[in-house]
Parts: sequence; structure tokens; C-alpha cells
Amino acid sequence: MSKIILTGDRPTGKLHIGHYVGSLRERVRLQNSGEYDEIYIMIADAQALTDNADNPEKIRQSIIEVALDYLSCGLDPEKCHLFIQSQVQELCELSFYYMNLVTLSRLERNPTVKSEIKLRNFETSIPVGFLTYPISQAADITLFKATTVPVGEDQLPMLEQTREIVRSFGNIYGEGILVEPKALLPDNKNCCRLPGIDGKAKMSKSLGNCIYISDSPAEVKQKVMSMFTDPDHIRVEDPGKIEGNTVFTYLDAFCKDEHFPKYWPDYNNLQEVKDHYQRGGLGDVKVKKFLIKVLEEELAPIRERRAKWEQDIPAVYEVLRKGTEAARAKGRQTLSEVKAAMQINYFEDEELIRQQAERFRNKI
Ligand code: TRP
Repeated sequence: MSKIILTGDRPTGKLHIGHYVGSLRERVRLQNSGEYDEIYIMIADAQALTDNADNPEKIRQSIIEVALDYLSCGLDPEKCHLFIQSQVQELCELSFYYMNLVTLSRLERNPTVKSEIKLRNFETSIPVGFLTYPISQAADITLFKATTVPVGEDQLPMLEQTREIVRSFGNIYGEGILVEPKALLPDNKNCCRLPGIDGKAKMSKSLGNCIYISDSPAEVKQKVMSMFTDPDHIRVEDPGKIEGNTVFTYLDAFCKDEHFPKYWPDYNNLQEVKDHYQRGGLGDVKVKKFLIKVLEEELAPIRERRAKWEQDIPAVYEVLRKGTEAARAKGRQTLSEVKAAMQINYFEDEELIRQQAERFRNKI
């Protein structure tokens, strides 16, 4: 069986380095591993509209930001199809049929959707499209017969919902058409979620605590220097805490042993730095300056690629257009198999027409 990846992001702004360690870095690795037959990366604008119906301009402007982030991080249009969700109408069609396979109470139990509803204060005025986005996400995944969906932990309920739909579909309409996908989580625990620079659990645009993939060296520097550390670590001699110390959480996600000879030869590895910090005698500023160098090593080539693509925005849209065409070709194929299995392929089914012609001719 082919190994196929599908994953994507909602375009509600530019992506931050939390997205980078949580998913983009992994996607580039998977793309370059050569292990996958087809890779689809989707800009999920239709899903973004489920809770931004009144702000289409935000979504429209964010598509290019996300596309630039993808290309600058090293996603290669020669190796993967980058596409825009709303332009693949087969997704809507498939979602519509899946709606018959899912109950309202099942949707209301989805823990990710539940917490998002709370976060957005929807309370009793939940848009139907929002409540049902896990169904549309199941269509996103299965239209491409994806076997592997690289995502963060918060997306596990969507994968579970997708597998349930695939099973119901198989039971009713026949096995072997749709594929049950598996989630692929980032392996390093620290990579699952980077906190904001203020130490809050999540980076979020509205909290203003993000470092963006597209930030300039000056912005990165200024943000790291203002980063939350250990509030009780007042004088250099004081012992410091590592847990909940944002600078160390970021180092866990980005730092490699090779960084030490180049940027901080006083130590051999991150553990030695942590030990010193915990003992006391190591100041925050030194650790932060090291973090800036570590981040820059990763971000500088990304920035360079971005600058090139920014000079040719029409070429970025051309990448998306081509990717969308490839996605549609795949989508049309799956949808025709689905419709045949569901017996709604009237015009393609010559046998049906022949049988009925005979039935009516003979009045049986
Ligand atoms: N729900 C994902 C997010 O919020 C975006 C998304 C839409 C997605 N469809 C998908 C992710 C299909 C993986 C597979 O980031």
C-alpha cells in the first residue's frame, strides 16, 4: 500500500516557531526521508472560516504568509503538493456524505472542539460549521487516502473521529475504499508544545508572546532577552530552576551538542549548563545569548529562503495552483470510488441503466 501524508494548518496569521518545532521541522524531515509516495500539505482556509466567517480578509491575507512559511522552512514543491483547501470542492462533497455517519452527541464529545468552544465563548451560539469541522477534517484526510497524519496531540480526537467514519463507511458501503490513518506525533516530548516567551502555556498571537518564523534577527534577540525565566533567580549566585523556565524549554527544543564548541565552549552539552544554573552562579543573560545563537543557526537559512520567495509572490501562487490541481486529481479519483460504493454514480453505471431499461420494457 502507498504511504501517503496529509496534514495542514489553519491560515489565521503567520506561523511561529512553536509550529516549527511541533510540525514544520518534522514535515521537512519526512519529505526528505524518501519514505512517502505522496505528500499533501493543506492550507485549511475553509476550516479557518468555521470560526472566522466574519473576517474573510484575515484568512485571505494569511494564505500567502503560511505558504511563505512552508516554502522557507524547506517544504519543496517538487516533493510535496502544497494546496488550498477551499479550492478542492471534492472535500465539501465528501464531508456532506460523512455527515450521515456521525451523530450530534459524538461531535459534542470531541475534547478539542469542546475546549475551543470555551476559548471562543461560543456557549450556545456555536456555528454548525464549527461543531462539524471534525467531519470536514475526516474528509481532508481520507480524500487523499492518507496513511500518516503528522500532527500535534490536540489533533488526536480528529484522527479518532476519522477512523470511526472510515469504519462506518466500510461497514455500510464496503471495505477497501477508504484508509484508516495514523497520527504521527513529534517524538521529542519538548517539541510538542513551546510556551510563549512570557512562560504562558501556549504561543498565541492575541497574547503577543510568539516568536515568528519570519521574525528578523533584531526581533528574535529582543524577544529572547525579554523571555520569562525563573522569577526567584534574582542574583547570579542564586540557584535557578529549570522547570517552567522558558529559556530552557526552548533550548530543549533547539539545542544540539554541536552548538557548544561553536557558541559556548565552556560546556559540552545542555545538561552541564542546566547543572550549573541549578547550582547557582550562571546568569540568565548568558543563557539567553546562547539561545539567540542557537535559534539564529536554525532561522537564518529559513529567512534567506523566505527573502527569495518574497521577491516572487506570483511564483508562490503558481506553486499553490499546481499543488491544488494535483490535490483535485487525487480527490476526483477517490470521490468517484466513494460514489460508486454509495450507489450514487447513476450516469457512470451502465449496468443500472441496462437493467432498469429491461425491467420497464418487460414491466416486471
Ligand atoms: N485542525 C488543524 C489545525 O487546527 C488543521 C487541519 C485541517 C488539519 N485539516 C487537517 C490537520 C487535516 C491535519 C489533517 O491546525
